[in-house]
This record gives sequence, C-alpha cells and structure tokens, in this order.
Amino acid sequence: MNVPAIQSKAPQDQQQSLATELAAGAPDGAGGSLFAQLTGNPYFTAGFGLAGLATVGRLGQKGLTRAAYYVRRRMLVELEVTRRDRSYPWLLRWMSNHHRAEMQKIQGGVESAGQKPSKGAFESLVRRFAPRIHEFQIETGEVTRPDGRQHTQFSVVPGLGKHIIRYENAWILVNRERQGQHLDYEGQFFETIRFTTLYAHRSIFERIFLEANKLKEEAEEGKTIIYHSRGMDWERFGEPKRKRPLDSVVLEDGVKERMVEDMQEFIDKREWYSDRGIPYRRGYLLYGPPGTGKSSFIEALAGHLEFNIAMLNVSQRGLTDDKLAYLLTRVPARTIVLLEDADAAWVNRRSVGEDGYAGASVTFSGLLNALDGVGSAEERIIFLTTNHVERLDEALIRPGRVDLTLRIGNATEYQIGKLWDRFYGEMDPKGAGRERFMAKVSSLGLVDAISPAELQGLFLYNKDKVEGAIASLDELAAMHAHVARKMTRGADEDVRE
Ligand SMILES: Nc1ncnc2c1ncn2[C@@H]1O[C@H](COP(=O)(O)OP(=O)(O)O)[C@@H](O)[C@H]1O
Ligand SMILES: [Mg+2]
Repeated sequence: MNVPAIQSKAPQDQQQSLATELAAGAPDGAGGSLFAQLTGNPYFTAGFGLAGLATVGRLGQKGLTRAAYYVRRRMLVELEVTRRDRSYPWLLRWMSNHHRAEMQKIQGGVESAGQKPSKGAFESLVRRFAPRIHEFQIETGEVTRPDGRQHTQFSVVPGLGKHIIRYENAWILVNRERQGQHLDYEGQFFETIRFTTLYAHRSIFERIFLEANKLKEEAEEGKTIIYHSRGMDWERFGEPKRKRPLDSVVLEDGVKERMVEDMQEFIDKREWYSDRGIPYRRGYLLYGPPGTGKSSFIEALAGHLEFNIAMLNVSQRGLTDDKLAYLLTRVPARTIVLLEDADAAWVNRRSVGEDGYAGASVTFSGLLNALDGVGSAEERIIFLTTNHVERLDEALIRPGRVDLTLRIGNATEYQIGKLWDRFYGEMDPKGAGRERFMAKVSSLGLVDAISPAELQGLFLYNKDKVEGAIASLDELAAMHAHVARKMTRGADEDVRE
C-alpha cells in the first residue's frame, strides 16, 4: 500500500500548484475559474486525493495479486519432498547443520567486529535479519557404540512450520507441513517439506541435495543398515551398525572365500541374467547348530560386499501374503533379505478358527509365492538360516529359491586353533599354550562338539589368562556332557510319546 500512497501525493501537489497558478492568472483575480475553485478547496482536494488513492490502491492490490501470482509462477521454484522419500531425514539434518554453521558465522562475525557491550543494536539487527529456524524438534535414535553398548542419540531438526534459511546467496523458505490428522499405516503423520526460492537460484537445490546426501554417506560409511519390515515398508532399525569384518568370523578353511566368490560373481553378472531374461535372484541357506556364526557371517558378508540387511519377519502381526509379496518388491537397493530361523517361522501359528479365519498371517505358500512368484521383485539376494534343516519344507529350499546351501557346524580343530590365536596369539607367541589347549580339547572330545560361541564365552571369561582357558575346558566338557544327557533323555521321551 505504500507505493500507491507515495504516487498519489505527487499529483495532489501538482494539482494544488496548478490551481494556485490558475487562480493567480484569473482576469478578475477574485472568483477564479470553476476548476480553480474546485481544486483550491482543500476538502475537495482531500476527497479527490482519497478517491484517487483508492483507485490506485485497488489497481495496486490487483496488480500485487497478479504480481504475486506471476512471481510464484515465473520467478519462484518450489521443491517438495515427502516423508517417504529416503532423503527426508537427511534434509532435516542438513538444515540444522547448516543453521548451526550460519549462527556460528554470525556470532563469530559480531565478535570479530569488536563489538563491545553496546553491540545490542547491531546484534539484534543481525539476529533479526539472519536466516532462522524458529522451532526445533528432537529426534531420538539408538546408536551402538564400538563396545557394543546401546546409546541413545538425539539430533535436533527443524520442527513443523515455516523457516527461512540462507544458502549461498539465496533465501529459501522452508515449510515443513503435516498433511491431515491421519496416521499412515506406519503410525506416522504424512509430512512434507517444501523449499521455495527464486527461480534464478534454482540450482542450489541440487547442491543442497548433494550436501544432504554427503551427510548421509558420511554417517553410513563403514556401516551396515539394518531394516525391519514395518507396515508395508522397510524401516531402519536403530542407527547403522559398524560393519562386521569378515576376519572376525572364523569358519572352516575356504568357506568364507567360496561364499564371497559366489556372491561377487552373482553381483557382477547382472547383465548376464537380464540378457537371458532370468530373474536376477540368488538364495542362500545357512544351517547348523546355534552359535556357530551363521548370523555373524551374513552380517560380515553384507559389510564386505557393501550391502545392507533387511530382516524379514514372517510372523509379524498383521502381515498377510499380499503384504509380504509387496514388501519383497520394495527391498531397498543393495540389501540382503534375511529370514532367520526359517523353520520356526510357521510354528505357534494361530490355528484357523471355526469361521475359517486365521487372523492376518502369512501362509507357507504365500511365502513361496513372494519368493518367486510372477509379481516378486526381479532383483534379490536372500539368506535363510536354520538350526533344524530337517524341519524345513523341501519346497522352500528347492533350486531357484535356494541356490547354495552351506552347513556351518560346530568348531573344527582348524577353527578352534584360529579362535585361540585371535584371543591369545600375542600372549602365547611360541604356541606352547595353544598346543596344550588343543590336546586337551581333543582328549575331552570337544572337537566338532562345541560351538564357536561357547568357545568365545570361555575365552572371554579367561581374558588374558592362558592357564585359566585351559583349565576351564573341564567345566565346558562337563556342561556339555550334562546337556547331551538331557538332550538324549528328551529325545527318548519324544520317542515314547
Ligand atoms: N564362527 C564364528 N567365528 C567367530 N565368532 C563366532 C562364530 N560363531 C559364533 N560366533 C560368536 O558367537 C555369537 C553368536 O553367533 P551367531 O552368529 O549369532 O550364531 P548363529 O547365528 O549361528 O546362532 C556371536 O557373538 C559371534 O561373534
Ligand atoms: Mg543366528
């Protein structure tokens, strides 16, 4: 409204001076022309001015609306990112990082300008015009420390509402909005962030995205992301885990190499598959007693090949055949699907009620279909694990679903030796302790009878104590004999039943 007001002033003055001139130039010098009389009348002039102002104002308003529309259409660019986008959390983080950096710059600038206590006005001016984010929100996540402890991490991200940020030379209006009051099936509000800036500055979006992506990569470098299925999609489970090195898993000689080779070959053969119209899928089954490193091995393989892991839980409440099939088409890129304890997935299943309704659940044929039906994803690596391979349905492990089966057994002599070296290699460089340990292990009949997990337990209990480790073998053997007796008794009872 300022603009029309200023404009209207000039003609008014002109009119006035014109009126004075005319009045002055009148032949009789007294009455003057009608025009002069009219314009000379301050009330009329004021009225005329107001009317003029209103007209200009109206035009101005229309013009402004039109201009705003024009500006919006032609001069501004908007970019909308929805919560479902994988870049969403990283854009939020980028914004708070950027904001923090900007604030530091401003504070640094104020101080270096040598502003003393009287800086009030200057600072408040800077503050006032500094890009700002009004509201922040805390996001909580779990991180696993290198020592394995869980640690809660908070990050501060811009809250809902409008924020203004300055990036390079551009001002950007950021609007984080919740759409509607309804939770989606994941129990989250549907949300978007909209970035608006001048058309001339549109290239900054790309740079912002690149920076946000860099943040993401830095945070995930050397890490394995674990996804869990939630609702109809995969969701990160906790913070990314540090990659498990392949070296940390001790298997029989050559087993790891063979597996890595097979997976690498598959990964490199993408084109070969697509050229022949063969679904690009590979399935692996790892079976063997508990505590032999099946899960650890898969984690290490994923880390080694730079894959993430999607944990599939087919007994998840509310999961149906359809949803499962859909989920398997939405596995994030470079992600292994892992179905642990594949034999147990169908036990404790609610039995079908009298009305024939079994509750929302996945059927066995539903899983088979999801694994290789027409609608299933083209690209997939899946791992199944089980402690009871004999309980697995043949249909699940036929070629095409499972292409490579690997038995991972209890610790062999080779593995026991290697595990010893990892724990006592430095303290027992000549291997005298190792020799005695190995001799005792075999005399107690523990080779191929104890799991690496048990051995690891014994070593951890006797950390840095070579003698203690050797002595503890007796206990381990006794415990084993006890468990073995119990197991055979249990089996006998099963037979009697
Ligand atoms: N072969 C192995 N090499 C190194 N560590 C092992 C091995 N097997 C088991 N462990 C250790 O024992 C624990 C349980 O192993 P896990 O991988 O869960 O076994 P599984 O999945 O076969 O039951 C882990 O802490 C792991 O580090
Ligand atoms: Mg396991």
